[in-house]
Amino acid sequence: MGKLAGKVALVTGSGRGIGRSTALKLASEGAAIVVNDMDEGPAAAVIDEIKSGGGKAVACVGNVAAADFGDRMVKTALETFKGVDVIVCNAGYTLDTVVQKMSDADFQTMLDVHVVAPFRLLRAASEPIRLLAKKEAAEGREIFRKVVLISSVSGTRGNPGQINYSSAKAAVTGMTRTMAKEWGRYKVNVNCVAFGYINTRLSQAFDAGDDVSIAVEGRKVAAGIPKAIADAAKSMIPVGRAGTPDEAADSIYLFCCPESNYVSGQVLEVTGGS
Ligand SMILES: NC(=O)c1ccc[n+]([C@@H]2O[C@H](COP(=O)([O-])OP(=O)(O)OC[C@H]3O[C@@H](n4cnc5c(N)ncnc54)[C@H](O)[C@@H]3O)[C@@H](O)[C@H]2O)c1
Repeated sequence: MGKLAGKVALVTGSGRGIGRSTALKLASEGAAIVVNDMDEGPAAAVIDEIKSGGGKAVACVGNVAAADFGDRMVKTALETFKGVDVIVCNAGYTLDTVVQKMSDADFQTMLDVHVVAPFRLLRAASEPIRLLAKKEAAEGREIFRKVVLISSVSGTRGNPGQINYSSAKAAVTGMTRTMAKEWGRYKVNVNCVAFGYINTRLSQAFDAGDDVSIAVEGRKVAAGIPKAIADAAKSMIPVGRAGTPDEAADSIYLFCCPESNYVSGQVLEVTGGS
């Protein structure tokens, strides 16, 4: 029996990278997974992978920034698996430029994806969680639920060229601490992982001339880090390399397992020691 047997986990942006590894890790510990991604193909591939390993998974495809997304994700979990036990708000990307070139629209988009979307998802989950917690309390049972919000050292420490993303990721730490205080009464642990350099599509090193852009609803968005900057960043990491998506997922898992039931309102920087 896995540590999350019988639990239902909602993981946004779980078609690739850290979210994918998190979905697979939680599934390997027995959780049924609601897989979200704005790209249908990667979401379907993760679901196949979970099912072929004997797990349970269902898709809720779409952009987390859509106004109805939170309600759809929670409804999918309740209708398919009859529960909401773990929520990992991971979906996101970057729209970098320096302050003088940053448009209102690109600033707002990062707030919408990284702050408003998790807010709406948690708001959508609040009533089902309240009712479940009330029922469990009446039965004399103490069942812990888990929320893990994903931030970045760009949010906790700042990063040039990311006024939109770093502001949004900083807001996530405030959301974490507030929700830990609001939801303690429902036995929900709310924590945050702020990553340093994790090797994913978002942070891939590229040579001059390479096109590593990603598509976001038809818009071409720059991704990756120029190789010289990536190498310099990696050389500053005490453990000597960037993290893997699986290592990132393991740190998220620490906040999802029963051993962390008395840990809430924390922001954990996962940086390889820097
Ligand atoms: N990779 C890093 O070094 C790093 C560092 C700090 C924080 N993060 C954060 O980790 C999270 C995951 O990033 P990653 O590195 O795994 O990136 P990734 O691009 O490898 O994977 C992200 C996945 O989320 C999906 N996604 C992105 N925006 C979405 C949206 N609006 N709606 C639905 N799906 C969406 C993408 O399609 C993709 O499949 C992000 O919140 C990112 O800001 C990453």
